[in-house]
Amino acid sequence: MTFESETRRRRTFAIISHPDAGKTTLTEKLLLFSGAIQIAGSVKARKASRHATSDWMEIEKQRGISVASSVMQMLYRDHVINLLDTPGHKDFSEDTYRVLTAVDSALMVIDAANGVEAQTRRLIEVCRQRDTPIITFVNKMDREVREPLDILDEVERELGMPCVPMTWPVGQGKSFRGIMNLRTQAMTVFESGKERLSDDFETIPLSDRDTLTKRFGADFESAMDSMELATGASPTWDHAAFLAGKQTPVFFGSGVNNFGVMEVLDALVDLAPPPQSRTSTTLVNRQPVVKEILPEDKDFAGVVFKVQANMDANHRDRIAFVRMASGKYTPGMKLKVQRTSKELRPTSVVTFMSQRREAVEEAYAGDIVGFTTHGGVQLGDTITDGANLMFTGLPFFAPELFMTVILKNPLRTKQLQQGLAQLGEEGAIQVFRPEVGGPMLLGAVGQLQFEVVQHRLKAEYDADVRLEGCQYTGARWITADTPAELREFVNAYPARMALDAANTLAYLCTSPYDVRLAQERFPKIHFHPLREHA
Ligand code: G4P
Repeated sequence: MTFESETRRRRTFAIISHPDAGKTTLTEKLLLFSGAIQIAGSVKARKASRHATSDWMEIEKQRGISVASSVMQMLYRDHVINLLDTPGHKDFSEDTYRVLTAVDSALMVIDAANGVEAQTRRLIEVCRQRDTPIITFVNKMDREVREPLDILDEVERELGMPCVPMTWPVGQGKSFRGIMNLRTQAMTVFESGKERLSDDFETIPLSDRDTLTKRFGADFESAMDSMELATGASPTWDHAAFLAGKQTPVFFGSGVNNFGVMEVLDALVDLAPPPQSRTSTTLVNRQPVVKEILPEDKDFAGVVFKVQANMDANHRDRIAFVRMASGKYTPGMKLKVQRTSKELRPTSVVTFMSQRREAVEEAYAGDIVGFTTHGGVQLGDTITDGANLMFTGLPFFAPELFMTVILKNPLRTKQLQQGLAQLGEEGAIQVFRPEVGGPMLLGAVGQLQFEVVQHRLKAEYDADVRLEGCQYTGARWITADTPAELREFVNAYPARMALDAANTLAYLCTSPYDVRLAQERFPKIHFHPLREHA
């Protein structure tokens, strides 16, 4: 197979949903259909602490299992499909946003009874900002749910883009009869059963109207009516519009019964985009110049979108998840971390086939490669085999919750510093070092992040800390057009200045008016609620 066809046959997507819509179940069925796992239920095991919990064992379990299963690779119809899971809990939404920067498309799972729910809405926003193509799966049709037209209407409103039905349900709940596949013009007859495979289902061509009416009577007739209404009201399928994030294909089914899932897998192969180009900056005569990196470029380039502590007893190991943007990875190749110009010396390199971590033999653009290191790699780092470039666009959000870290035993200062540096690099929490000195500050987007960090500091670094509330309620990263303007601002608010893990200067706020007042006083300073790793 040529280099170009290796990249073209890859599909890298994230699966997003509100908790309980059926993401775990669907993931498992996708893997089952592709033959990646034999035992249904193994993904389920990962779903440990979904609902806010302070049970440490549960959090550990979730973190541990997710190392193995947050990235899954499978082969289907001669395509390599990389599936990236997104954390279920809203307190870890930052992780989710970063995962979304590493994919070329998203699969959105919706509970047909609940429609588009809060958490899905936030994820949609991120996809929309990036024009990520979205495939929609309306799940749980075997339950008493809402009318498909009604759901379509809601998805359209929430997504702000037209829906194009690809399958259409016949009946629902107890009288769920199956789905009409509008692409193949055939009805697949529903039968319940958890272990069913794709070819277990009976299909009847839609042209065989007599048989369909005889067997499914009024359910079929009314499904035809609503389907005609839906397709009449939707635009025709426009692949380019889907790729531009302006149209979403919609599929109906029942994940738990493996029903309607195959159609989604086929859509990923047939409709979802192969790896896309990525924007980077490179220095030409010391000036930053924007450069598009194409998947078929021969040089290796990738970006770290997730760093996770290993669950092995030797906890200093960390896995850096790198989304490859171009080139080919082969074992033993020399790679460099662009930020530090240091060589990346992984102790092991893995891909995520079949839910097991396997030593990587080769990988291409679109693939996720896990490098186990002892440090030296941060979220957002660009890894190349020599080329001088940096990827942009990995978001860090200004925290809204702050805590001061008080070390219980001052003799453990070194361990605390090491722990905070590493947890900061992982993106588990944001660490701010006040310029005037004093205790470190932790910034989070969700409360649960503090609990995890406090626990991990003790468990992994033997640094027992107390977290205390403080007056800060927000932060803004600051920049200015000239060093003199920045200096003037820093001198005006010395007690409010702090450096984050990447040594970027931030202004700490105590109220929402803070930024406004500071901005009025210093109109030339730029206040950023989002820092993109550059
Ligand atoms: P999540 O990852 O999005 O949170 O959802 P998950 O797959 O865990 O599914 C949430 C619940 O919905 C599970 O029930 C699951 O069995 C059920 N479910 C998923 N897909 C379907 C479907 O197509 N039809 C029906 N009727 N139910 C579905 P649970 O009671 O929480 O767990 P379990 O005891 O069934 O394992």
